[in-house]
Amino acid sequence: MYESFYRFTGKPFQLSPDPEFFFGSRGHRRAMAYLEYGLHQAEGFIVVTGEVGAGKTTLVQQLLRRLPANDIVPVQIVTTQLEAEDLVRIVASSFGLPTDDTNDKSTLLIRLEQYLHKLHGEGKRALLIVDEAQNLGARTIEELRMLSNFQAGTKAILQSFLLGQPELRDLMQRPEMRQLKQRIIAAYHLGPLDRAETQQYIEFRLAHVGWEGDPAFAESAFDRIFAVTQGIPRRINTLVDRLLLAGFLGEKHRFEESDVAEIAAELKMELGPQRQFAAATAGDADQAETAGTAGAALPRSIAPGARQAGTTEDETAPASMSALEERVALLESTTGMIFATLKKVLRILRSRGTDHRRDAA
Ligand SMILES: Nc1ncnc2c1ncn2[C@@H]1O[C@H](COP(=O)(O)OP(=O)(O)OP(=O)(O)O)[C@@H](O)[C@H]1O
Ligand SMILES: [Mg+2]
Repeated sequence: MYESFYRFTGKPFQLSPDPEFFFGSRGHRRAMAYLEYGLHQAEGFIVVTGEVGAGKTTLVQQLLRRLPANDIVPVQIVTTQLEAEDLVRIVASSFGLPTDDTNDKSTLLIRLEQYLHKLHGEGKRALLIVDEAQNLGARTIEELRMLSNFQAGTKAILQSFLLGQPELRDLMQRPEMRQLKQRIIAAYHLGPLDRAETQQYIEFRLAHVGWEGDPAFAESAFDRIFAVTQGIPRRINTLVDRLLLAGFLGEKHRFEESDVAEIAAELKMELGPQRQFAAATAGDADQAETAGTAGAALPRSIAPGARQAGTTEDETAPASMSALEERVALLESTTGMIFATLKKVLRILRSRGTDHRRDAA
């Protein structure tokens, strides 16, 4: 909508992960290095945690783009509430194996194992990527651990990445996760961008669509964007996208702090899940651990006062609910903005119509 007003060649702040727009922040670069290190080990689990919208999925997409296409066979499962009984079937079908002809788990397991051996024989490696892994129950994770037992000689033939929100760290702290923790090759917690990176991130995305300084941003506008979003990329995207839309509606070519404050108030970002702000103010930056230390202790729980590991699987629900509430609130305000934009377009069309009639007369 605002793209032509600012002469952009595309949308700079899409909400869906797009590797074309990948910004290598310090945290993202370090996370990538850990992922690559883990991949090199060719076994066990690699765990990436991070706040909602910190860029975990984007990171893995970027990694997959960089992988040698011929020797790694990656499959990705995105799961909300995957039951333990479904896991083997879903993994098998992700690798393209037939699963409809049987309900027998051991048949599926044999198929999967044979397939993994076949890949291994061809000099290829299977990589299972489980996104949104904070939703997995302890039993499902245990099933995943069993899959990591497949071996050819002494070599593991399936490696897994677990990506998840900070609740995944809590989940890993449970006593019954002890065995899985011993299989973790690398664990990384992706923190938010800092103030300087927040500005670089915005300028990077804008430059990618041909921005040459229109609109301009006051330094204090960047300060405010950072303060409001706490450096979480998805929040930055939402806020700046809305700011640009408002800029188009108000025909602005420069944004001040007050413009950002106004949009932030509209988006009610300050009302987002408190734990995200707690984490940022507690200085919860990137943390990484590799085998040896990771097995003993995963990064600490997210922030003082944050929920600690519990004993029931339902404990991840409140965090998921607050993320959901935040998204619904964003949706509501998006609808409001769309109405405002439609009104403006109508107004422009009407005034053009009036001009036209006047010219004709
Ligand atoms: N390094 C980055 N470079 C460019 N864009 C990024 C980066 N990190 C995150 N983003 C953007 O932020 C948004 C959220 O990123 P992403 O979906 O990867 O987060 P996530 O951590 O997987 O979130 P969730 O916890 O909801 O799964 C996306 O629009 C993505 O494009
Ligand atoms: Mg994600």
